[in-house]
Amino acid sequence: MQYKAVKGFKDILPYQVGTWNRIESEAKRIFELFGFNEIRIPVIEKAELFARGIGQDTDIVSKEMYTLKDRKGNFLAMRPEATASVIRAYIEHKLYNVYQVQKLFTIGPMFRYERPQKGRRRQFHQINVEIIGDPGPRSDSELIAMIMYFFSSLGLNDLILNVNSLGCLKCRGPFRTELKGYLKRYFSHLCPDCQIRMETNPLRVFDCKVETCNQIIKDAPSMLDFLCNDCANHFDSVRLYLKQLGVNFVVNSHLMRGLDYYTRTTFEVQTKELGAQNAVAGGGRYDNLMKEFGGPDTPAIGFAIGVERVVELLEENAVQKEEGPDIFLAPLGKEAEDKAFIWLQELRKSGLKCEMEYRSLGLKTQMRHADRLKARKVLIVGDDELIKGKGIVRDMISKEQIEIPLNNIVDELIRVNSLNS
Ligand code: HAM
Repeated sequence: MQYKAVKGFKDILPYQVGTWNRIESEAKRIFELFGFNEIRIPVIEKAELFARGIGQDTDIVSKEMYTLKDRKGNFLAMRPEATASVIRAYIEHKLYNVYQVQKLFTIGPMFRYERPQKGRRRQFHQINVEIIGDPGPRSDSELIAMIMYFFSSLGLNDLILNVNSLGCLKCRGPFRTELKGYLKRYFSHLCPDCQIRMETNPLRVFDCKVETCNQIIKDAPSMLDFLCNDCANHFDSVRLYLKQLGVNFVVNSHLMRGLDYYTRTTFEVQTKELGAQNAVAGGGRYDNLMKEFGGPDTPAIGFAIGVERVVELLEENAVQKEEGPDIFLAPLGKEAEDKAFIWLQELRKSGLKCEMEYRSLGLKTQMRHADRLKARKVLIVGDDELIKGKGIVRDMISKEQIEIPLNNIVDELIRVNSLNS
């Protein structure tokens, strides 16, 4: 019986990990500059947390959540996103007592039972960022500027930033009524799901992937025409600050995002290169979620980057050269093998990346292995060398060979390693 990974779940292979590490370390470097701290949260939560936070009528909750019952009958879910968990943690640990504005990020796997395709998996990874505690438009603009800076620092400069405002509960009401009226006119052309959504949560019709619904929603009323004064001013300021920060964007009044918790600013970073799954990051303000979860009335804004999609965009560099060992030890004969095994450990402790074969092999085979591992240099030591107290170091690029004394082998190899090949 040969096992395969579960559909939609993928291995990240050694030759791909370099790109992942680059993305994550660049994110950490930049977030630190902007004053963010890391938080790590569990991958499983009570299912209700997501139903309440993201919204019962969203696809994520109603169709895509991996749920399970534990032995005590608790209804749990593998997290489909991180925001609800971060807010749960903020309230549970009273992080607001530490410092009122908390800037947090977290990196890890999320789970959604979606149909796998290019750029879409059932286990995928997000770099998730939240600013909790500041209501002002400067936070919105700064956060968006940070995400664009992150992408450009990875060399991704052709991304399109879409921004929109979803208003607040006050102005969303009249918009919902107007939208519902509009959708009613096309009721018989809506897909069965959207016919229900029209009644329960008409904004979710914007998420529908069915072509006829897409056509209908194209001419739907715009939320921006319904913003109350406060929300309109907030959105004006966000756009102004973005311009001041030199961030290019397009206003997309149909950007509704697939989660119910958003208020005011929403945004999505899109690419033309990944086909249907074109969003590499998305987020927005969610000023009511904290209260909804029983916490203090605290505004917040955040976003999540889809790491798989960024990896795909960086695909050119994804097949990164694995760094080979600095030194490959090639002993010949039992005595040399025993010595080399000890040297190997000492060399590693002194900071050199070293390898050797544990099987007794001829020199030719060992050289072939060194080559395959992309070793930069090989130390050859056989019986003759042991008697002479001198080993041979072969540079695998220039093919030059030199002799080095064996009595101080670690220092000698550090010296040799520092010579340019
Ligand atoms: P989201 O738009 O659902 O937002 O996901 C953010 C990003 O995760 C997407 O833009 C996409 O790049 C990636 N993504 C989503 N689903 C998949 C999938 N099945 N396979 C691969 N990548 C995927 C959120 O999750 C919000 N929690 C973001 C947020 C944080 N809003 C406020 N704070």
